[in-house]
Amino acid sequence: MEEKRILCIGLVCLDIISVVDKYPQEDSDTRCLSQRWQRGGNASNSCTVLALLGAPSAFMGSLAPGHIADFTLGDLRSYGIDVSHVIPRTGCSFPASIVISNVTNGSRTILHMNRNLPDVTAEDFQKVDLAQYKWIHWEGRNAEEQVKMILRVEEHNRSSPKEQQITISVEIEKEREDLYQLFPLGDLVFVSKDVARSLGFSSAAEAVVGLYPRVKKGAHIVCAWAEEGADALGPDETVVHSDSFPPETVVDTLGAGDTFNASVIFSLSRGQTMQEALTFGCRVAGKKCGIQGYDGII
Ligand code: ADP
Ligand code: FRU
Repeated sequence: MEEKRILCIGLVCLDIISVVDKYPQEDSDTRCLSQRWQRGGNASNSCTVLALLGAPSAFMGSLAPGHIADFTLGDLRSYGIDVSHVIPRTGCSFPASIVISNVTNGSRTILHMNRNLPDVTAEDFQKVDLAQYKWIHWEGRNAEEQVKMILRVEEHNRSSPKEQQITISVEIEKEREDLYQLFPLGDLVFVSKDVARSLGFSSAAEAVVGLYPRVKKGAHIVCAWAEEGADALGPDETVVHSDSFPPETVVDTLGAGDTFNASVIFSLSRGQTMQEALTFGCRVAGKKCGIQGYDGII
């Protein structure tokens, strides 16, 4: 039987990346080292990493038809990512980010634009044949719709034997109150450093302990904290930690979090422990920080 896929639902956008060795001054006119177009968006980046790790993956998200959509779809396909759930939305503009990637310190400054592209709705998700998937990951965006999608999967899980059940993960990355309704819905919840900080926590360990009461019974919560690595907490009530794996030179941290999430999902979906998954996530994300883009992370 063919291996079931991992589906990631969220944003695909265009990243227009200028690589610099010094962050430009406002109103200056300077040269950059290189420029490139790269497919971006958290869910789409995580699909890239899953594909590179060797997991069959699928991306579900909206796309405004046109030249950029052609570039994006071509790129998704070139990694073997299933695009049958990509939804064309006519009359919308394609979301894009201008990214300044500083090779001297690895920083990435993102200026994102998303004017009017609607996110995936519960109605769109109704068309997904759940039998094809073993894991579905939601990048927290239009939370109210995403709650309905997750409830559909929970219903499916209740009426299916164990081997047909789908693991649910969610990412809560933006500091937005409406996204916090996703906390009790994931079997695995990724919460970002920014969200953790805004809720008053000053380390990943503090965050996973403090936020654990918000997740559902039996779930795991994970928080990555850049150079400090990542921590996780599950039902056994023991905080697990991995240090980061800094590359020799940090050149590009764009998508480090998406790489980490995908690697953790990959590892857990292959039956590894949370400690193994965190370590693997930090190792792959660290490797990513040492290269431009994603090719070469393994
Ligand atoms: P993002 O800001 O892209 O969401 P994070 O800063 O939370 O991502 O980092 C995710 C993971 O990537 C971290 O747990 C760590 O393993 C790795 N990482 C990020 N930045 C660095 C860095 N400067 N050096 C080494 N590893 C890093
Ligand atoms: C990285 C990323 C970029 C995109 C931006 C959107 O995590 O997904 O690819 O431009 O974030 O917020």
